[in-house]
Amino acid sequence: APLRASVTTRVVPKAKSVAQVLPEASYKVAVLGAAGGIGQPLGLLIKMSPLVSELRLYDIANVKGVAADLSHCNTPSQVMDFTGPAELANCLKGVDVVVIPAGVPRKPGMTRDDLFNINAGIVKSLIEAVADNCPEAFIHIISNPVNSTVPIAAEILKQKGVYNPKKLFGVSTLDVVRANTFVAQKKDLKLIDVDVPVVGGHAGITILPLLSKTRPSVTFTDEETEELTKRIQNAGTEVVEAKAGAGSATLSMAYAAARFVESSLRALAGDPDVYECTYVQSELTELPFFASRVKIGKNGVESIISSDLEGVTDYEAKALEALKPELKASIEKGIEFVHKHQ
Ligand code: NAI
Repeated sequence: APLRASVTTRVVPKAKSVAQVLPEASYKVAVLGAAGGIGQPLGLLIKMSPLVSELRLYDIANVKGVAADLSHCNTPSQVMDFTGPAELANCLKGVDVVVIPAGVPRKPGMTRDDLFNINAGIVKSLIEAVADNCPEAFIHIISNPVNSTVPIAAEILKQKGVYNPKKLFGVSTLDVVRANTFVAQKKDLKLIDVDVPVVGGHAGITILPLLSKTRPSVTFTDEETEELTKRIQNAGTEVVEAKAGAGSATLSMAYAAARFVESSLRALAGDPDVYECTYVQSELTELPFFASRVKIGKNGVESIISSDLEGVTDYEAKALEALKPELKASIEKGIEFVHKHQ
């Protein structure tokens, strides 16, 4: 099944380059915000990757202990810690992938956009450092609101003259992970087989699971479509409410982010069969950024898969039109923020 991806590394026997690179851990990955709720379990999952040679952990505080702890796991990667802006450049030099979960999470009653004022500034300053120190790296943005923080990152990289749209990714993997789980439960399917493309953005109604494109092919009643779509869109809020003030999704998010890192590393290693849904610069719709399935290769986004948007149901077509104004406004808000804070 070519569309599946998982945290465990897949060896593709036909691809010689992959077979050659895989046994050797050779990639450097940096996590910015590594001492946080997502950062810690994400660090652990990346520490388990056989492809990573260096795991660089950066935060403004508390990262020494996390690094000391992780460094005792007997897996190949060397763990390094970096605290505060003075050590950020050294953290970033020479890395292949930068993952950014830095920022504040939601509390009950908050939307992702309520985080904008704090997280926009954090992402801006971190991306400035990325632009100066590792402009060639794949950049994975987790910090919310992703619908705005990715356009912010793009504008900063443009200002620095190093923007490569193929290497800037908004991490929307958690929406796919949730969709796969909920659909498998509802339809009593083997979880490992289920793959639901999720397009649009990563907040509320901008999260659009294309249930009609689920693999293996399944049919849903209108009620099931409505119920599953709503549950996938509100799954983050489900966790925020259950945690009752103690944060938002961290463990499932770390799992999803680790899957996206592993997919990126496989792509860098030459695996010709890496597909993930992610929020990127896109010409799929009239919006400049849009989440969809993309093929990832050595140089980042190789192609954007348009077929998922063809032949969608009326429900999905309407939901797609309905999400566009909100997504457009979030993109513009991000771009404006950068222009106001030059
Ligand atoms: P957290 O508060 O537990 O951790 C955030 C970490 O970022 C802290 O360790 C903090 O010290 C660090 N930090 C703050 N400012 C920093 C800076 N300037 N440089 C480096 N590190 C800095 O929050 P949590 O739960 O880990 O969430 C992080 C972000 O991820 C939030 O914005 C949240 O909304 C987002 N998120 C995104 C999801 C997605 O699907 N894309 C899913 C869940 C959360």
